Amino acid sequence: MNYWTVIPAAGQGKRMNAGVAKQWIELLGRPVLAHTLDVFEDDPDCTGIILVGSKQELKQMQDFVQTFQYTKVRHIVSGGSERQQSVYEGIKRVPKDSGLVLIHDAARPFITKHHINELVEKAAETGSAVLAVPVKDTVKRVVNDQVEETIDRSSLWAVQTPQAFRLSIVKEAHRKAEDEGWLGTDDASLVERFGHIVAIVMGDYHNIKLTTADDLLYGKAILLDRQGEKA
Ligand code: CTP
Ligand code: MG
Repeated sequence: MNYWTVIPAAGQGKRMNAGVAKQWIELLGRPVLAHTLDVFEDDPDCTGIILVGSKQELKQMQDFVQTFQYTKVRHIVSGGSERQQSVYEGIKRVPKDSGLVLIHDAARPFITKHHINELVEKAAETGSAVLAVPVKDTVKRVVNDQVEETIDRSSLWAVQTPQAFRLSIVKEAHRKAEDEGWLGTDDASLVERFGHIVAIVMGDYHNIKLTTADDLLYGKAILLDRQGEKA
């Protein structure tokens, strides 16, 4: 099934502290944003891509899209101070007659076509689906350096992007959340809040978000491993 993709890339990468936003960091000679875009550019089911950048970086993004000759990037729009606002700006530009929209962080460059397919299939059936993996560590709730509770791990999943939704569902959820001044930590949480069921699709532990400097080490290892598989 065809889909559109919104890629929020308007953050500042404060936790990475690399001197540039995360999408410009090079991994094995290619910017993170290129690794991320390649997968959607090459997927025949992806109709179009909306890239969301910070106001100061719009020109840089336009130049980047031209230089790397991405043909599916239909709009490059200015984001907001919160990720949720950036995503909403992107969603507003998805054509109204589109069925499914995927929202995928620019800083998650190891997503594969296989997992996109699985996600799209599920969202086409249910209206909302997210990729996630079972949590491996034991998770505790801590207050003032003291354990309050050990949470039953068997029901805990770490949620990733892409997250896929029927356009009408996610657009309405973002509109209402903005009206109410409600900020969620992912797009699914907005959809959940307005009563929709969100399906979980088994993701991949390699689909990490580059957040801190040590993620770059792991990221390089993932790319080298994939290159080895191809060779
Ligand atoms: N993002 C965005 N607009 C914002 C904040 C974040 O489009 N106002 C994007 C980031 O560019 C990133 C994705 O959302 O691709 C996930 O956010 P995160 O990992 O938190 O990235 P940053 O906000 O850049 O990093 P930090 O929170 O460490 O500053
Ligand atoms: Mg952030």
